[in-house]
Amino acid sequence: MATVTSSRPYHVIIFGASGFSGQFVVEEVARYAAETPGGGRVKWAVAGRSRQRLEDVLKRAAGRLSMPELRTDIEIIVADVSIEESLALMCQQGLVILNCVGPYRFYGEPVVKACIANGAHYIDICGEPQFLERMQLEYHTKALDKGVYVIGSCGFDSIPADLGILYTQRQFKGTLTAVESFLQITSGPEGSSGHDATWQSAVYGFADSKSLSQLRKKFGHRPLPVVGAKVKQRGFLFFSKEIEQYTIPFMGSDRSVVRRSQHYLYEEEQQSPVQYSPYVGIGGLFSVVKLLCGGVLFWFLVKFSLGRKLLTTFPSLFSCGLFSKSGPTMKQIEDTCISMTFYGEGYSEGSDPTQGRPNTKICTQVTGADGYLITASAMVQAAVTLLNELHSLPRRGGVYSPGAAFFKTSLIERLSNHNLKFSVKN
Ligand SMILES: NC(=O)c1ccc[n+]([C@@H]2O[C@H](COP(=O)([O-])OP(=O)(O)OC[C@H]3O[C@@H](n4cnc5c(N)ncnc54)[C@H](OP(=O)(O)O)[C@@H]3O)[C@@H](O)[C@H]2O)c1
Repeated sequence: MATVTSSRPYHVIIFGASGFSGQFVVEEVARYAAETPGGGRVKWAVAGRSRQRLEDVLKRAAGRLSMPELRTDIEIIVADVSIEESLALMCQQGLVILNCVGPYRFYGEPVVKACIANGAHYIDICGEPQFLERMQLEYHTKALDKGVYVIGSCGFDSIPADLGILYTQRQFKGTLTAVESFLQITSGPEGSSGHDATWQSAVYGFADSKSLSQLRKKFGHRPLPVVGAKVKQRGFLFFSKEIEQYTIPFMGSDRSVVRRSQHYLYEEEQQSPVQYSPYVGIGGLFSVVKLLCGGVLFWFLVKFSLGRKLLTTFPSLFSCGLFSKSGPTMKQIEDTCISMTFYGEGYSEGSDPTQGRPNTKICTQVTGADGYLITASAMVQAAVTLLNELHSLPRRGGVYSPGAAFFKTSLIERLSNHNLKFSVKN
């Protein structure tokens, strides 16, 4: 692992450790540090704007993990997104900043800037395509010049999808040309839900969805070629025979992130690109009715600032209980698990993808615990991979999606030992 110094005493600093997601990242880092022996142990600190709330989070983690030393041994760094000097001081002390402060469209950019200016690598759990793509457009060259890696979306959005596609490509014997993924969330008797900050990110993201096409024009990228038979998109709502439930296109960042990785791998690694369509199962007819009523109201309200105010003030009401200010309970989190199944098709070894229909199929799966636990594990393993396998990352720095950054590393294997399993299904 990269060595820390007296001027940069921490491998990892968790910024926004007092937040709902931050608390799980704290626990995951503490667990990981305890797993690694003596000298190789991760040195870490927590950061945020309130010392009291950071003390509380360490106290809670100490209790939950039965590690009383967390209360006394872990350094607290006070830093606020709106105070540039505090971000600079934080970034100067760590090799990698794990940024858990969101919504990123409001709070992310000063942290990216401070990391680049102060030579700290940056990892986040953002699921907002506008922020992720804008950071790549505006900061890639600056990060490259400074030898800093800025790697977004290293959480539930979009590690399972992005690395799931890489895994499927590796397992396929021949040229994989298209993949559909189906996300299923299985919860216990108390159901599952998400925290308010993710709901807010979604509200402002949908409101601003038109800006994405303008942003993409600025990249000036050549469109990815379609290799093999062109895949038809399914409708907005359909009954999926694959997962035997009603299904809709997945509206998160997965498609955007996978597209960026595929673009990078096509341009830089001469890898044949995959057409990708992500879907999510929503359940039976009752869920369809709920989704249609809630969806129509959401699309209407999200267009107006008063509507957005209503949506963000009453998350539980307008999301039909899917998001709340308090977030899921520990019981809900413990009882929830996810699976993402990838149905791929392509051309067997030796056959020509420009001729005829695909002749080979593959089915793979990524399974794991609740989204918040997956997010914490994925973020921490991304940081560990960066620290241990720096020379396998592209060039000497820059802004990347996880698939592009970690293509040549052992992140998939590391994740398989930490909450996220990758497998081939027969
Ligand atoms: N990729 C994924 O799958 C995934 C999963 C989970 C979350 N997320 C994203 O992660 C982000 C955080 O979510 P969350 O549920 O953890 O939110 P949260 O509970 O609201 O936490 C936000 C954190 O940001 C801190 N913060 C707010 N303003 C700040 C400022 N000016 N300076 C410094 N710190 C500040 C808060 O500090 P205080 O405690 O002092 O208020 C808190 O620690 C959201 O954007 C969410 O969408 C993504």
